[in-house]
Amino acid sequence: MASLSTKHILGIKYLKKEDIELIMETASYFKEVINRPIKKVPSLRDITIANLFFENSTRTRISFELAEKRLSADVVNFSASASSVSKGETLLDTVRNILSMKVDMVVMRHPLQGAPFFLSNHIDANIINAGDGTHEHPTQALLDLYSMIEKVGGVEGKKIAIIGDVRHSRVALSNIFCLVKMGARVKLCGPPTLIPKNIQSLGVEVDHDLRRTLEWADVANVLRIQMERQNIRYFPSLREYSLYYGVNKKLLDSLDSEVVIMHPGPMNRGVEISSDVADSQQSIILHQVENGVAVRMAILFLLAPHKS
Ligand code: NCD
Repeated sequence: MASLSTKHILGIKYLKKEDIELIMETASYFKEVINRPIKKVPSLRDITIANLFFENSTRTRISFELAEKRLSADVVNFSASASSVSKGETLLDTVRNILSMKVDMVVMRHPLQGAPFFLSNHIDANIINAGDGTHEHPTQALLDLYSMIEKVGGVEGKKIAIIGDVRHSRVALSNIFCLVKMGARVKLCGPPTLIPKNIQSLGVEVDHDLRRTLEWADVANVLRIQMERQNIRYFPSLREYSLYYGVNKKLLDSLDSEVVIMHPGPMNRGVEISSDVADSQQSIILHQVENGVAVRMAILFLLAPHKS
């Protein structure tokens, strides 16, 4: 059976193109499984997975938990706000204690860049990064890729725009690594303060004009303004941001061709995206969420230790 070249999914940066292709292929199989009347398969029976969330999450946490349960894994959930982290315990101690209860795999979200990488040097379990600070969110990029392939039939040579707060977005960085690896053309658009300097070195283009970017794009992935990660002002007001960089129906209707609209959620309706766009036929936002479960099932299945 084909297998991944890595033991952990710490970031798209560390995956080969073949790994990504294998995950896409396996996810198609699981997408079919989760659309059956009986959605559960025994693939991960006897595998125990800990979901360690040191930062808030709705979609990603539920998506991982559903994926794990549909594969028949045993699941334990941990969230930092209800744990001994607030009593001063270190990350390594918290995780070592959990792993001594015989956990095979760890899904981890953490507010600090590199936290899952650090852990991977200290523990045996397979680690999946569910978002580390402003660094990477590999499973989101993989579900985004799956959704793009499903919608436009492959990304090679396709024009993908990533719009908004690229500076603070782990979704953006993982998407850039992933799309460039898979041969897509990527353009970033946002106010100059929210686009990191020299980001072109990653193989992407930059345009600060939203209309021109949307005219160019086949697909636009719209990002949330990450207010919680901004300790200085990067733009004068949300109103002004929305005026220059908000994706709204009037703007989309004035373009020559139809752009596929994506958003990783949670959305700030009326800021980076208007409600009539988010809820339109052009948007595949809820398909992204559905595909998230299939893609995460594929990743868990491919990484899981084989017990016999
Ligand atoms: C993203 C995240 O947490 O990085 N959301 C998600 O996982 N679906 C994007 C965001 O917070 O804006």
